[in-house]
Amino acid sequence: MKSTPPVRLSQITKEYGLVHSAITQVLGGISLTVKKGDFIAITGPSGSGKSTLMNIIGLLDIPTSGVYFLHGNNITSLSDDQLSSLRNKEIGFVFQSFNLLGRISVLENVVLPAIYAGTGKDKREEKAKKLLSSVGLEKYLQNHPNQLSGGQQQRVAIARALINDPNIILADEPTGNLDTKSAEEIMAIFRRLNREGKTIILITHEKDIAAYAKKVVKMRDGKIV
Ligand SMILES: Nc1ncnc2c1ncn2[C@@H]1O[C@H](COP(=O)(O)OP(=O)(O)O)[C@@H](O)[C@H]1O
Ligand SMILES: [Mg+2]
Repeated sequence: MKSTPPVRLSQITKEYGLVHSAITQVLGGISLTVKKGDFIAITGPSGSGKSTLMNIIGLLDIPTSGVYFLHGNNITSLSDDQLSSLRNKEIGFVFQSFNLLGRISVLENVVLPAIYAGTGKDKREEKAKKLLSSVGLEKYLQNHPNQLSGGQQQRVAIARALINDPNIILADEPTGNLDTKSAEEIMAIFRRLNREGKTIILITHEKDIAAYAKKVVKMRDGKIV
């Protein structure tokens, strides 16, 4: 039996405001199917619409027109609350700037999305510890993010992205703030997660980072080329 693709976009556009009565079209009709177990790199020059596309795939933003099926469900008509709860369960995010909370510990950062998901305290902490061990950070549970290197912080962010067992990982320039060695370590983790069955969509403008993916999709001026 053919399985439903995790992500299917049909003719997605995104337009911004009426600035001096001109509409800026940032995405110009994107159609893309991401299958279960895919590892896709979306590349393209700065300003080509990669982050806008990722925000739409990640349910952080809504398209101006077009249809988006997430696991076969048309999400275009969902309410904000429905979108948030779906996002928290289905999608793990990793950003260039890590986006960790500085005032709480590494463990607490990883646990946070599980609190929103309603997972019990013991269960979520056990899971967070396991995930932090899997990225080599078992000794840093009580540290604060700013006591860690960039590469370590990004590994915390990956553990956080995994806490609710999402099927899809979205990573926007995850190695953009890292040195080469840390970047390679991060990409090795993504490769392992993909082997373990996660569907990964990676945004990067770096060729050697895109090379870790199984498939490369190139964007230019809001379109897939
Ligand atoms: N909120 C916004 N309002 C107006 N224009 C925007 C907004 N967000 C992004 N853009 C524009 O959309 C284009 C694509 O941006 P982005 O998706 O961030 O590209 P990339 O991630 O490929 O660098 C850019 O020209 C940017 O200026
Ligand atoms: Mg971007």
